[in-house]
Amino acid sequence: MSTTVWVPRDTSAISVGAEDVARGIQAEAQRRGEAVRIRRNGSRGLYWLEPLIEVETPAGRIAYGPTAPGDVGSLFDAEFLAGGAHVLRHGPTETIPFLARQERLCFARMGVIDPLSIEDYVAHGGFTGLRTALAMSGTQIVQQVTDSGLRGRGGAAFPTGIKWKTVLDAPATPKYIVCNADEGDSGTFSDRMQMEGDPLALIEGMLIAGLAVGAEQGYVYIRSEYPLAERILTEAIELATRAGYLGESIAGSGKGFLLEVRRGAGAYICGEETALLESLEGKRGMVRYKPPLPALQGLFGKPTVVNNVITFASLPIILEKGAAFYRDYGMGRSRGTLPFQLAGNIKRGGLVEKAFGLTLRELLYDYGGGSATGRPIRAVQVGGPLGAFLPEKLFDTPLDYEAFAQVDGMIGHGGVVAFDDTVDMAHMARYAMEFCAIESCGKCTPCRIGSTRGVEVIDRIVADESRDKNLTLLQDLCETMLHGSLCALGGMTPFPVLSALKHFPEDFRKLASRRAA
Ligand SMILES: Cc1cc2nc3c(=O)[nH]c(=O)nc-3n(C[C@H](O)[C@H](O)[C@H](O)COP(=O)(O)O)c2cc1C
Ligand code: SF4
Repeated sequence: MSTTVWVPRDTSAISVGAEDVARGIQAEAQRRGEAVRIRRNGSRGLYWLEPLIEVETPAGRIAYGPTAPGDVGSLFDAEFLAGGAHVLRHGPTETIPFLARQERLCFARMGVIDPLSIEDYVAHGGFTGLRTALAMSGTQIVQQVTDSGLRGRGGAAFPTGIKWKTVLDAPATPKYIVCNADEGDSGTFSDRMQMEGDPLALIEGMLIAGLAVGAEQGYVYIRSEYPLAERILTEAIELATRAGYLGESIAGSGKGFLLEVRRGAGAYICGEETALLESLEGKRGMVRYKPPLPALQGLFGKPTVVNNVITFASLPIILEKGAAFYRDYGMGRSRGTLPFQLAGNIKRGGLVEKAFGLTLRELLYDYGGGSATGRPIRAVQVGGPLGAFLPEKLFDTPLDYEAFAQVDGMIGHGGVVAFDDTVDMAHMARYAMEFCAIESCGKCTPCRIGSTRGVEVIDRIVADESRDKNLTLLQDLCETMLHGSLCALGGMTPFPVLSALKHFPEDFRKLASRRAA
C-alpha cells in the first residue's frame, strides 16, 4: 500500500520550490523502495510554511514545512511517511492555530482536495448548491442570495442579490455572466488561490448565477500575470464540461451554460468593471460612463452580471446551506466571511478566512504574529492601493464595511499590507499618486492631470517649498479628484494620500525639522 503525500501546486508554493520538493520525494521514495503517491493540492494559505507538504496517516494529515529539496533525505530518515518527528513537523494540519481558528466557508476545500478532481470536489460537498439551484426558479435563487446578505467581494461591497435582480428583470437577451479575476490590488491573492486551489467552486458559482438571471454564457476575465491559475481554471472547465456540468444541459437539466476564459490586458484599470467589459469586447480598457449600468447594458450592450471570483465562489455554500446559515456569520451589514489576505511586513503572511467583525489588531497579531522584522507595525493599508493607511490607534477597528468607512478606510477585496516603523509615509503618499498617474485610463481630467500634479505637489511639500501653500493645494487637489473623477481610481487615490497626511504628518516635515535642528 502506498502512502499519499500532498504537495501544493499553487503559484506561491511553486515559487519557493514545491516542484523540486515533489520530484525529490518521488526520487527518494524510489531509491528507498517506498511506495509513495504524490498528489497535488492548492495552498492551505500558510505562506510562511510553503512548500507545506502533508502526509496522509491514520491520524489524519500531518504537515511538514517549509520544506526544501535538501530536507527530503532527513524526512525519510525521520519516517515522515508514518508522521514521524522532525524539526519541520507541525502535527495534524487542521490543528495549526493559524488554520484552526479560521472560519473557512468559501475556502473550506482549499488545500484539502486536488483542484482538478471532480471526484474530490463532489466528495467534499461540491455541486450540492448547484443541484439545489437547479430545483429553484431564478427569482427564488436571487431571493436566497439577497437574504444571505452577500455583498460583492471585489471592492465596492455592492449587494449581490440586488445586482442580480436588475439583470433578472432586464428584458433584453442574451444575458451574460462575467467573472472579474483581474485581482490588481496590492497584497491580494485570494482570487488566484481560489482559481488554483478550488476552481470548480468558481465554476459552480457562475453556473448558479447563470441559472438565477437566465444567462447561458459566461466569461472569466483573468489577469495575464496569473498563467498557472489560467491553466488550472481552463483545465477545470474542460473537466466540468466532460462531466456534464457545463454545456448544453447542466447536469441533465436541459438548461445550458458555456464558460470561457479570457486573458486580461495587464492594466489595473481593466479590473474596473466597465473597462473590463471594453477589454473583453476587444477594445482598449477605458472606463465607460454610468448609467447605463452593466446590469442593463453590459457586455456587447446586453444585461450582464459582473462579480468578483470570491463573490461567485461564496455562492455554492449559500445555496447548499441556505441564506440563514451564511447570514449568521459576520456583524452589522457585513454578512458571511471574507478571505483576508495578510501581506507586506508580516511574520505569518497568508490567507485568513474569518467572519467579518474581528479587529485589524487580531488579524495582524493573533494570526500574522506581528511584523516580519520584529519592529512595531506602524501603518497598515487595507483594501489595495486605493485604501487608507491606518495607524496603530485604529487597529481595534472591526473588519466591517461600515466601521471601516467611519475611519475613512475601506476593506475592499480584503488585502492587508503591513509596514513597520521604518516606513516613510510621505513616500507612500507620493507612491499612491504616482500609481494613479501610471494606471489612469486618461478619460477624465481630475485623475489624468491631477495625479501627475499630485506627485509634484507632494515633492514640493517634502522639499519644504512653500509648505503651507502646497499643503492647501494638495487638499484642494484631493477634493477635486474625490468629487470630480469618473471612477474610483481617481476618486479614491486621495484616501491613501489624505490618510498619510492626517495620521503621519511628521513624515511630511522631515526636511523642515532637520533644517530647524
Ligand atoms: C480601478 C478599479 C480597479 C478594480 N479592480 C478590480 C479587480 O481587480 N477585481 C474585482 O473583482 N473588482 C475590481 N474592481 C471593482 C469592479 O469595478 C466591480 O465593482 C466588481 O468587479 C464587481 O464585483 P463584486 O460586486 O462581486 O465585487 C475595481 C474597481 C476599480 C475602480
Ligand atoms: S478616474 Fe482615472 S481611471 Fe477612472 S475614468 Fe477617470 S481617468 Fe480613467
